[in-house]
Amino acid sequence: MYRTNIRFKGGSVVAGTDELEAPLAADFDATIAADRRVEPRDWMPEAYRKTLIRQIAQHAHSEIIGMQPEGNWILRAPSLRRKTILLAKVQDEAGHGMYLYAAAETLGVDRAELTEKLITSKQKYSSIFNYPTLSYADIGVIGWLVDGAAICNQVPLCRCSYGPYARAMVRICKEESFHQRQGYELLMAMMRGTDAQREMVQESVDRWWWPSLMMFGPPDADSPNTRQSMAWGIKRHTNDELRQRFVDMTVPQAAALGVTLPDPELRWNPERGAHDYGEIDWDEFKRVIAGSGPCNAQRLAHRRRAHENGAWVREAATAYAEKQAARAREEKVA
Ligand SMILES: [Fe+2]
Ligand SMILES: [Fe+2]
Repeated sequence: MYRTNIRFKGGSVVAGTDELEAPLAADFDATIAADRRVEPRDWMPEAYRKTLIRQIAQHAHSEIIGMQPEGNWILRAPSLRRKTILLAKVQDEAGHGMYLYAAAETLGVDRAELTEKLITSKQKYSSIFNYPTLSYADIGVIGWLVDGAAICNQVPLCRCSYGPYARAMVRICKEESFHQRQGYELLMAMMRGTDAQREMVQESVDRWWWPSLMMFGPPDADSPNTRQSMAWGIKRHTNDELRQRFVDMTVPQAAALGVTLPDPELRWNPERGAHDYGEIDWDEFKRVIAGSGPCNAQRLAHRRRAHENGAWVREAATAYAEKQAARAREEKVA
């Protein structure tokens, strides 16, 4: 792990004075301007590093907490096939969390530190995972809308200026598209079923539609960090641009499925060449982000418990690694 006053550049170590930093900063700016990737050993402004750590950690936490609402249905999935699909999907989310914690570690933090920040509420995760999964249709709707929104958010991150994050996102996005398809396929099966099943799907869409739109974050006018993140090539589009893209992508999918999106103001605007949609309840968004969503306390308590229950695994793994290292040293000496 390295900290701010020692900088690595091309393998050499230089002191972090302003005078020495000027050419390094120029190098960084040139990398960004040429749309090349910044790598862990490159010099980077402290604010860039901090922004990335915050964003990647928040993303990793979302993947890990996001396992809970769906994990809730693994034992109750109606067939072996549905169980297998859901299990694979939830397992993928664990993998996404791991790639992302590893990407954050290249910036000089460690995973234990980030986990601590999550379970003590010092870092956030996506507001969407604070809503409950009340019916099995929610599994389909989460795949379709929540993973669908995640794809819109994440595909541009494959071109993020920070190399390790961009590369992690390539694989994550491939898996997210499987998640979206499995959700849509489940909903198609339910829509071909009984009236009760169709009602179940519609009721679930009614609950998840607005929270899905909130996944893109506050409106641009209320998102002070967007401009800097875009200048650094971390973010490629604004929150509202991505939200619009999601709405335009989802409307025809809803029609093909035969469900109604719960927004009377949702309609095609030929002048804009995009759909207009109703006002999002930003007060609800702020409440959920601030910790008063329907499941915030439950999600964090569950994560904390899982962390405590895993203490013996971490201890055993550390003891094993130490033993292996000691053995390797002994063999070298011999
Ligand atoms: Fe994921
Ligand atoms: Fe996913």
